[in-house]
Amino acid sequence: MKNKVLFVVTIVAVFLLGLLASSIINRKSEAKYKFVPKVDISENEPRNKVWGENYPKEYQSWLQTADTTFSSAQGGSAMRDMLEEDPRLVVLFAGYGFSKDYNQGRGHAYAIEDIHNSLRTGGPTGKGDGPMPATCWTCKSPDVPRLMSENGIAEFYSGKWADKGEEVVNPIGCADCHDPSNMKLRITRPALVEAFDAMGKDINQATHQEMRSLVCAQCHVEYYFNKKLPGKEGVPYLVFPWKEGMAVEDMEKYYDNIEFSDWTHKVSKAPMLKAQHPGYETFVTGVHADRGVSCADCHMPYKSEGGQKFTDHHIQSPLNNTANACQACHREESTKLMANVYERQRKSTENRLKLEDLLVKAHVEAGKAWELGASEEQMKAILTDIRHAQWRWDYSAASHGASFHSPVETARVIGGGLDKAAEARVKLARLLADLGHNKPVDMPDISSKEKAQEYIGLDMEKLKAQKETFKENLLPKWMEAAKAREAKMGEKSVSMN
Ligand code: HEC
Ligand code: HEC
Ligand code: HEC
Ligand code: HEC
Repeated sequence: MKNKVLFVVTIVAVFLLGLLASSIINRKSEAKYKFVPKVDISENEPRNKVWGENYPKEYQSWLQTADTTFSSAQGGSAMRDMLEEDPRLVVLFAGYGFSKDYNQGRGHAYAIEDIHNSLRTGGPTGKGDGPMPATCWTCKSPDVPRLMSENGIAEFYSGKWADKGEEVVNPIGCADCHDPSNMKLRITRPALVEAFDAMGKDINQATHQEMRSLVCAQCHVEYYFNKKLPGKEGVPYLVFPWKEGMAVEDMEKYYDNIEFSDWTHKVSKAPMLKAQHPGYETFVTGVHADRGVSCADCHMPYKSEGGQKFTDHHIQSPLNNTANACQACHREESTKLMANVYERQRKSTENRLKLEDLLVKAHVEAGKAWELGASEEQMKAILTDIRHAQWRWDYSAASHGASFHSPVETARVIGGGLDKAAEARVKLARLLADLGHNKPVDMPDISSKEKAQEYIGLDMEKLKAQKETFKENLLPKWMEAAKAREAKMGEKSVSMN
């Protein structure tokens, strides 16, 4: 009996010793891999490089967003001139900046460079000059949360784009999505928080998986500038129009209710809406969102390097990386998955282009009706149809990736647009006949970007010359001033070891 007790006690003791030893070994390897920050990152640190000292793997992969070598059938990171590829767009955007210059989006590393170069931002000669408000910087840089926290939100949205040229210089990066104290995902753009409020939702209740999409929804969404916000009159305040919901009809109702338009069309005089890029709004209607898949699952999949697993910060077309982006969940071959994506894109584009043709015709025919002396009263319903039809076209065209993210909803939206555009043209045919024009309206030659821009009366040489002057004179001054300012921000990269 005594021996038996001794035996059990010994077994237990040996077992406990074993546990202790293994726990010590674990602690040791924990210590070996324990994260020791090299630098102390301050709350508003906009410089990606400084963050990179603590998180080299994430930083190195983030740097790859500067790679422009990949293009897919409709996407990728190579520079693509959308107006060159499809001159009809010039007519659709007549009277608006997008008819001057419209390149497809590329990697986050280019956010600042591309907005400097775009003809849409014009050629400001100094503070207070140029066509665009400061609000246009909002989705470009981690300097934005810095300035908002230093000077206030409404102050950030105030003034001209050129006023903040020397302040906003670091491309989209770490501080846009992370809290430096614990690296948790955070929302830095007040417009998203305010849009949730308007829908009666609290963004702080979002789950971790939802946050993996919401960090993207800070920028990849539809928005407008509200200059009539009570207490902030005159400031082009950034607002996401989600109060009635995120569907194409909901946002349209919102805009119609407040009689908002982004611009008046130069040919048809329709009060137009520009859909910006309702990527998040369309994504949430698709099957992946329904199954709880997040933007980061496909655009920032896990990656392994030297036995360490981390989040790939090379945000790009997942078609350049199907092994990590898709095959974590799907067993199909890469070629099959690509074919699935392309098929959805091709089918959606087929109908979108039909809608585009109808819209070009509707604008030109409306222009003809004005020429023949149509009254505002006669044109009103027609222009509303054109507004609603082009809103649907743009909602599906500008919502990058929607034909894959949500092919069924995209098809439905384009279908609605086709119906509205056809309705406008039936009314136009009747009106034109009443005005004595009982035959087809001649269509302009818009077979190239240049011809289309000439048709809508753009002086491209002048616009390009203004941009060149800006790049030679003002831009270098911005960059110099920024460098001097950042030098004064101090060496945050001091070693803490
Ligand atoms: C199930 C995977 C998946 C999810 C989830 C997903 N995407 Fe995509 N996304 C794709 C694919 C595939 C494309 C098409 C890429 C191409 O055509 O090269 C795409 C295209 C895009 C594009 C255009 C990229 C380009 O190169 O033209 C953007 C921007 C984008 N997605 C953003 C988002 C955002 C924001 C979310 C979340 C709201 C999201 N995506 C969720 C797979 C996904
Ligand atoms: C601070 C605003 C902002 C945030 C946050 C943001 N994006 Fe972007 N994104 C942009 C802008 C602006 C561009 C276009 C840059 C250019 O063309 O110069 C872009 C481009 C892209 C592209 C095209 C890249 C390519 O190579 O063609 C993809 C894909 C994309 N974003 C996905 C995402 C995803 C996924 C998230 C969230 C994990 C996200 N973005 C978060 C603003 C943002
Ligand atoms: C557009 C948003 C976005 C930007 C910009 C961004 N990250 Fe992340 N980051 C994420 C997401 C999403 C995750 C995954 C977080 C999760 O699921 O908990 C992540 C994860 C991380 C992690 C946790 C470890 C890991 O790899 O999963 C680190 C560290 C990190 N990021 C560092 C950085 C650094 C450094 C930069 C700037 C060079 C940066 N991030 C820029 C969205 C972003
Ligand atoms: C996190 C898991 C996950 C990832 C990553 C993912 N998918 Fe999916 N995918 C799903 C789920 C879940 C469904 C819904 C069907 C189901 O439940 O089997 C789905 C459905 C699909 C469908 C059919 C739905 C439709 O639109 O008709 C296609 C096609 C598809 N995925 C392609 C892709 C491609 C391409 C990628 C990479 C760019 C990808 N998926 C990445 C989980 C994922």
